[in-house]
Amino acid sequence: MEEKKRLVAVGFEGSANKIGVGIVSLDGAILANPRHTYVTPPGQGFLPRETANHHLHHLLPLLHSAMAEASLSPSDLACLCYTKGPGMGAPLQVAAVAVRLLSQLWNKPIVAVNHCVAHIEMGRCVTGAEDPVVLYVSGGNTQVIAFSEGRYRIFGETIDIAVGNCLDRFARVLTLSNDPSPGYNIEQLAKKGEKFIDLPYVVKGMDVSFSGILSYIEATATEKLKNNECTPADLCYSLQETIFAMLVEITERAMAHCDKKDVLIVGGVGCNERLQEMMRIMCSERGGRLFATDDRYCVDNGAMIAYTGLLAYQRGITTPLEDTTFTQRFRTDEVEAVWREDEG
Ligand code: FE2
Repeated sequence: MEEKKRLVAVGFEGSANKIGVGIVSLDGAILANPRHTYVTPPGQGFLPRETANHHLHHLLPLLHSAMAEASLSPSDLACLCYTKGPGMGAPLQVAAVAVRLLSQLWNKPIVAVNHCVAHIEMGRCVTGAEDPVVLYVSGGNTQVIAFSEGRYRIFGETIDIAVGNCLDRFARVLTLSNDPSPGYNIEQLAKKGEKFIDLPYVVKGMDVSFSGILSYIEATATEKLKNNECTPADLCYSLQETIFAMLVEITERAMAHCDKKDVLIVGGVGCNERLQEMMRIMCSERGGRLFATDDRYCVDNGAMIAYTGLLAYQRGITTPLEDTTFTQRFRTDEVEAVWREDEG
């Protein structure tokens, strides 16, 4: 009976401007997944120190409410999981320190988790996508990934800023609200856009670049708006169409290269319905399917960390206390996805 007991873990995510605590079981049931977002005033981004203070303030109340929602006590948990990286240093540190303390207090093992791999595993779990090409798009990451020989390999990526960072910074130029997110407000405004403004289209082999597009649109936006040549909605529309087309192009190239039919989009920008629509058209033209999730799972959350930590834990992996550090750079392909090793 004992082996049949459900394995349950708690996961802490705090690599960017959200602090999340998730409780999940190995069969993918999400028992609780509360999170709190640090929202800055329009025109401002989030800075590491203030974001870390925000996380510190909210972590324990979130843990209390998650445990209450799941009706669990610490003794029910198999392990404690946290985001080791990549992300912003100070915010990452908050979850790393909290998990060390809780591990001592509750006498539970720790599993350190790669944030990008967690997005992929949560996406696969929620959508049922088995072996897709993954487009991971967020404020800090832009990668086209596929599973090959035991690891998630990066086939294409940004060579400068992340796609979400490009959108966030353009939202600051237009002083759009950061609530619920700058990208969401760009998406809504883009629906009213009528005129397409030509922007640089920068694909280099399997990689993309967004910094030149951002500089160009930042420099011309004020000028064009002042001369009534276009509206803010036209600029949002043009920016989305251009950068999403670039992402669809490199994803399609990776599909052809890896001979895979399906695509899974994860990460905060993955909630964008226009990006999903463009990707869905490309997939269906190739006889494949698009898998995507809504903002509960594509945006950073604690459940994705707990679930991925459990996948490793059931294969006997835990992180010794002295290695429960955090790191701003932690590449997706550094992790051996041992839970998929039977797939080769
Ligand atoms: Fe993320």
